[in-house]
Amino acid sequence: MDFSIKACDWSKGAANGFLDGKADVKVVGVFEAQTLTGAALEMDLATKGLVTRVVKAGDMSGKAGSTLFLHEVSGIGASRLLLVGLGKQDAFNQKAYGEAVRAAWRAILGTRIAQVTFTLAQLPVLERTGDWAVRTAILALRELTYKFTQMKSKPENGARALKKIVFSVDPADEKAAKLAAKQGLALANGMDLTRDLGNLPPNVCTPTYLGHTAKKLGRDWKFKVEVLGQKQIEELKMGSFLSVAKGSVEPPAFIVMHYQGAGAGKSAGKNAAAPVVLVGKGITFDSGGISIKPGEAMDEMKYDMCGAASVFGTLRAIAEMGLKINVIGIVPSCENMPAGHALKPGDIVTAMNGTTIEVLNTDAEGRLILCDALTYAERFKPAAVVDIATLTGACIIALGHHNTGLFSKDDALAGELLDASREAVDPAWRLPLDDEYQDQLKSNFADVANIGGRPAGSVTAACFLSRFTQSYPWAHLDIAGTAWKSGAAKGATGRPVPLLSQFLIDRAGQ
Ligand code: BES
Ligand code: MN
Ligand code: ZN
Repeated sequence: MDFSIKACDWSKGAANGFLDGKADVKVVGVFEAQTLTGAALEMDLATKGLVTRVVKAGDMSGKAGSTLFLHEVSGIGASRLLLVGLGKQDAFNQKAYGEAVRAAWRAILGTRIAQVTFTLAQLPVLERTGDWAVRTAILALRELTYKFTQMKSKPENGARALKKIVFSVDPADEKAAKLAAKQGLALANGMDLTRDLGNLPPNVCTPTYLGHTAKKLGRDWKFKVEVLGQKQIEELKMGSFLSVAKGSVEPPAFIVMHYQGAGAGKSAGKNAAAPVVLVGKGITFDSGGISIKPGEAMDEMKYDMCGAASVFGTLRAIAEMGLKINVIGIVPSCENMPAGHALKPGDIVTAMNGTTIEVLNTDAEGRLILCDALTYAERFKPAAVVDIATLTGACIIALGHHNTGLFSKDDALAGELLDASREAVDPAWRLPLDDEYQDQLKSNFADVANIGGRPAGSVTAACFLSRFTQSYPWAHLDIAGTAWKSGAAKGATGRPVPLLSQFLIDRAGQ
C-alpha cells in the first residue's frame, strides 16, 4: 500500500485539485446534528447538494462509526463518496477519531476499491495534531489488514485491492504529516514483525530461530548482530540464565543487536555515543518448568517471547525511519521446560554479577534470564535501559489488557515513557517500586529468592530485576496483559512497539 500526503485548504471554498484528482472513493466526515466538515461541504457544492439531501433524508445521521457509500457520484473526481459519521463535534477526541477511521477502513476493505482520497485525518481532534492523525490512520488500516497466514497449508485467496491512499492535510501540517506517514509505515512494518514472531508456533520460533531472525534483520538493515551460544554464555558466567535453559533440548541463544544511527566512535556527535539499551524476554515457550503450569491455555505461553519480539520490531521500525540514535537490543532466549536435568525448586544459582538466587518456583523464570541480560547491559554504559517482558500474570490482574505496567525509580525516564505511550496510543500505567517490597524477596539460604509471594506479584518481580540495574537509569515494562489477545481474536498485538519507537523518536529529537 502506498500512502501520500497532499495539502488542501477547504476553508477557502477551494478544493485545491481534490475534486479532479483520480480515486475510486473520496472519504469525508459528517458530525452528528448533520454538520458537514469542510471537505464534505466542498463535495456537497460539487455535487449540487447531494450530500445535504442524503443527510436530510436521514440516511446519514453522523452517528459515530456509521458509514454510507454514495455511488455514481459526478463532479468529485471519483465515482463513490464515502460518508463517515463522526459523533458529536465538541467531543471529537482520540477515541471518536479512532472509531471513525476504523469504520471507514472497514467499509473500504469490504469492497474492491483500490484508490482512496481520505480527508478524515484533517479533522481537528481534541488535544491531537494533524500529523498524529495521519500516523494513527495508517496504523489503524495496517492493524485491520494484518493476517497471520504463514502456517496455513494453502495460500488464502485474493490479493488485496486497496493500493493507494492520499491523505488531505492542512497546508501548515504538510511537512509534519509527510514525516508521520513515513514513520507510521515503518512502525507498522515493525509491528508486523513483532506480531509474526509472537504468532509463530513454539516448535518453529525457537531460540535458534530468533537468532537467525536477528542476523537477517542485521543484514537487511545494516547493523551488527551477535548471537552467543551455550559455550559463550557459560564463559560469561550467566548462571541464572543457563539454569532456566538447561531443562530444554533447544539450545539457548543470547542475542545482541547494535543499531548505530548516531554513529559509532569518534565520528559520532558529543552525546551520541551512549546508547539506549532494550532488553526483551525471549522465552519461546514457558511450560513453567518443574513448577509446571496448568494445562488450560498453555499454548499461549508461546507468546512469552513477545518482549524479545518487541525489541526486534522496534529496531526494524527505527532502522526504517533512519533514527539518529544508538540503540542496543539484547535478547536472552531459551525454553522453560521440565526434565530430569531441569532446574528444581530449592536450587540455588549464581547470576553473572555474583548474586546467589534461591529458586523457589521455576515458573518465575523471566526474571532469571533477564537479570543476567541486565548485568550484561552495563558494558555499554547506557544512557538508559528499558526491559520489556511478559513477566507476571499478576500484572494482568492489576491492569487488565489496556495498560502495560511501567516500573522505574527514575521519574524523568518514567515520564518520558508515559509521554511516549500517550502520543503513540499505546498506554502504560506506572506502578510502585518502593524498597519496602524488597523484603518479600528475602531468602533463608541465598542472597535473594526468585519469588515474593502473591501480594503485589508484579512489583516484587520488578524489585528482583531492580537489583541488577544499579549502574544506569532503568525502567521495566510488564506486557503480560498487552502483548497478545486471547479468545476468538487470539494473536499478538505488536505492542509495545509504538511506545518504544515513540520514546526513541523523542530521544533522537526527530
Ligand atoms: N510468562 C509468565 C507470566 C504470564 C502468565 C504472562 C500468564 C502472561 C500470562 C511468567 O513466567 C510466570 O509464569 N510468572 C509467574 C510468576 C509466579 C510464579 C511468581 C506468574 O505470573 O504466575
Ligand atoms: Mn513462567
Ligand atoms: Zn514466563
